[in-house]
Amino acid sequence: MQIAVVGSGYVGLVAGACFADLGHEVILVDNDQKKLDLLQRGEVPIHEKFLPELLGRHRGGRLRFSDDLKDATRRSSVIFVAVGTPPTESGEADLSFVESVAREISGAIDDYKVLVEKSTVPVYTSDWIRKIILRNGANPALFDVASNPEFLREGTAVCDFLFPDRIVIGCDTQRSADVLRQVYAPLTSASYYARTEAIPQPDGAVIPPPLIATSTKSAELIKHASNAFLAMKISFINAVASVCESVGADVNQVVHGIGTDSRIGPRFLNPGIGYGGSCFPKDVMAFRAVAREHGYDFSLLDAVVHINEEQRHRFLRKVRSALWTVRGKRLAVLGLAFKGGTDDIRESPALSIVQSLLQEGSCITAYDPAAMGRTREVLCETVNYASSPYEACHNADALLILTEWEEFANLDLTRLREELRYPIVIDGRNLYDPEIMAAQGFTYFSVGRSASHPDGVPAAVLRNDKKA
Ligand code: UGA
Repeated sequence: MQIAVVGSGYVGLVAGACFADLGHEVILVDNDQKKLDLLQRGEVPIHEKFLPELLGRHRGGRLRFSDDLKDATRRSSVIFVAVGTPPTESGEADLSFVESVAREISGAIDDYKVLVEKSTVPVYTSDWIRKIILRNGANPALFDVASNPEFLREGTAVCDFLFPDRIVIGCDTQRSADVLRQVYAPLTSASYYARTEAIPQPDGAVIPPPLIATSTKSAELIKHASNAFLAMKISFINAVASVCESVGADVNQVVHGIGTDSRIGPRFLNPGIGYGGSCFPKDVMAFRAVAREHGYDFSLLDAVVHINEEQRHRFLRKVRSALWTVRGKRLAVLGLAFKGGTDDIRESPALSIVQSLLQEGSCITAYDPAAMGRTREVLCETVNYASSPYEACHNADALLILTEWEEFANLDLTRLREELRYPIVIDGRNLYDPEIMAAQGFTYFSVGRSASHPDGVPAAVLRNDKKA
């Protein structure tokens, strides 16, 4: 099929490369000429597993880049809109990019096209897109607007796209539903998975993935409700972790106990320093705003946001209680991205904690396998950047673990202890076992579990001894 994807951000770039891998002819449209030049040169603007392979495989062949939206529309039968929907100050989604794409496309609708929302948008956006296109003179018989939300996670976006738990197509006409079924036929028929060059199948993949056909409004809601539910799951377990800390229970044991109930499930129950990224914070607020606009006070979502923000403050309090004062302290920080496996620092709780500690006068040396370049653009040289976790820890008063990168869970503990000035670890992602850390000579603080100390010696005593 001839497909246009508008917007070459995370969603658009991954979708474009994956559609090409499914065998479609794809034009990726962006109005940022610099970005197009970079893609044409073969550079990959984001850190995403398998994306360089797919772009390398299809660039100049089934995947082409263009800044001409009208031309791409004329050449395509399906146009996926994957432009940004950033939050406004009141938390609503700013749909001006979506609107301008709809306006520009209208003049190029000369035979039947399906315009598909891929960006996360509030319910009723498809109605608005339709109105805008009609207002700009398109023939109503020549187009349909559909919603096909994306559930990819940064870091595993290509696998999430090609091996999805489900494909949701929201269409109000049979004709547009048939077109979208055809787009995904290589996945739903499993023919893609039989190809030798297919991206390797991840564990637990459902083959073939189910395709769920709904109305456009339901599909729009499915996206917002999914992200809000996942954010709620994280805030819920973070709240439980706080109770665990108060009563001396172990949140990991609690997670195991509740997560084995098949109605609850163990995923997205990792306590930590709160969720971040370009999706959950924005989408929870936007969903809250859209519900309010339509007469429902979704106050549960306020609690989700509140618990999430509180989680960072709790972590900072833990740092202060471990070190007494933070002014002038040398702190090693592992992890700057909003989660492991990505270089994205948007709404990163790790970055917000680093900024608070800098304001309080700490001296920070940070390491992140992928996000240091982007952090430098924001924090400049207010932070020292190390080339390894061990270098970051050299002579530090304590180590703070802020992002769940896999390599941070497998550090050489003996070397770590030797590098640190004081063997104090404050782990915001629960990557280590408190007993093992104590046995290795660390004073170890984590989330929702009691602090552990070498030989059971209270942390305060150790601290005073070392400093004396
Ligand atoms: C999220 C959703 O998981 C995707 O399904 C969705 O498509 C995407 O948003 C989007 O709307 O585009 P993403 O933002 O890439 O994906 O990241 P997640 O893996 O969901 O993590 C979000 C945040 O929650 C991270 O800060 C992560 O550290 C945190 N998290 C996640 C926890 O604190 N605990 C958990 O158990 C899981």
